[in-house]
Amino acid sequence: MVHSHAVLVSWIFILCFGEAWSWEAVVVKSSVFARSGSSAELSCSYSTHASQGFTLEWRYAAPGTSAIQAERVMYYNGHLYWVNSWEGRVALVQNPPVSGVASVKILSVQPSDAGLYICDVTNPNDWSGSGQGLINLTVLVPPSVPVCQLSGSTYVGNDVTLTCVSSQGVPTPIYSWSREKDAAPLPPHSMVEDQRTGSLMLTNLSAAFAGTYTCRASNDLGEAACSISVKVAHGGTAAVVGGVLMGTFLFALLIAAVVAYLFCYRKRARQRTDKNEMRRMNVDPAEWRKSSKGPLLSGDSNEHPSLRVSHFSPLV
Ligand SMILES: *[C@@H]1O[C@H](CO)[C@@H](O)[C@H](O)[C@H]1NC(C)=O
Ligand SMILES: *[C@@H]1O[C@H](CO)[C@@H](O)[C@H](O)[C@H]1NC(C)=O
Repeated sequence: MVHSHAVLVSWIFILCFGEAWSWEAVVVKSSVFARSGSSAELSCSYSTHASQGFTLEWRYAAPGTSAIQAERVMYYNGHLYWVNSWEGRVALVQNPPVSGVASVKILSVQPSDAGLYICDVTNPNDWSGSGQGLINLTVLVPPSVPVCQLSGSTYVGNDVTLTCVSSQGVPTPIYSWSREKDAAPLPPHSMVEDQRTGSLMLTNLSAAFAGTYTCRASNDLGEAACSISVKVAHGGTAAVVGGVLMGTFLFALLIAAVVAYLFCYRKRARQRTDKNEMRRMNVDPAEWRKSSKGPLLSGDSNEHPSLRVSHFSPLV
């Protein structure tokens, strides 16, 4: 990939200038690996002495974009210019860069610095000393603390899957699951692990599966781990259905309570209305009650019927 670019560039120069042009005029280290937070040197050298019109340019293309889309980072034409976002973070290894070394150093590499860097040397008085080199910078990041999760219901006979994912890590971490040292032995082939995705499938659960499972995410730079506890319950689907039925039953009870409350409340309200009507109509409530549809609720009458009669009788 890098070579094919260089060959292409050298062909263009040969076609354009008809000169024997060696792509080794600009030499780069085409793959650079740097740990996040450390410094990284992007090495670029050229084989001629800078003369009138000499320029050096560094360009950068983020991962997923092509080299053609690379944007300027630095430009030198006797004066040195840095693009704002890079200034202070990157330095020339040799300043001024006119003695064959065009290398730059990123002082504290961030994961977002990963991508393609182009070192472009133009030396008009000696075109054979011009050219460009491509550098692929990979920023290495140790795995972040992974997240362990369980999906499925841990009833006897069920299958469940444990998952483990680190949100960061370059190169991509590999995952390995382990059980406690004193864990009960399991039937053969009952655990299926995928080290690439971090999943661990537990099939046909039994009490022996209970315990703590630990996932270790690791790459060249380090490792991080998470654990999850698995409890196996008996009952399987019956217990689940039982749980749902119990829930439904409780819900029905609640509804019944609400209906009963509303029923009583309305009844009391109607009684009160009835009494008021009796007062207005000047009726003996004892007589009136006989013709009334609803029976009075016991306990409602903190007024004794005789008192009520006596209360109304003077009016008759
Ligand atoms: C840069 O290097 C990384 C790691 O080796 C690789 O995955 C990636 O494809 C390379 N990118 C280019 C543009 O060559
Ligand atoms: C599941 O495990 C039980 C014992 O725990 C065994 O009797 C049964 O055959 C197993 N079922 C399958 C499908 O492997």
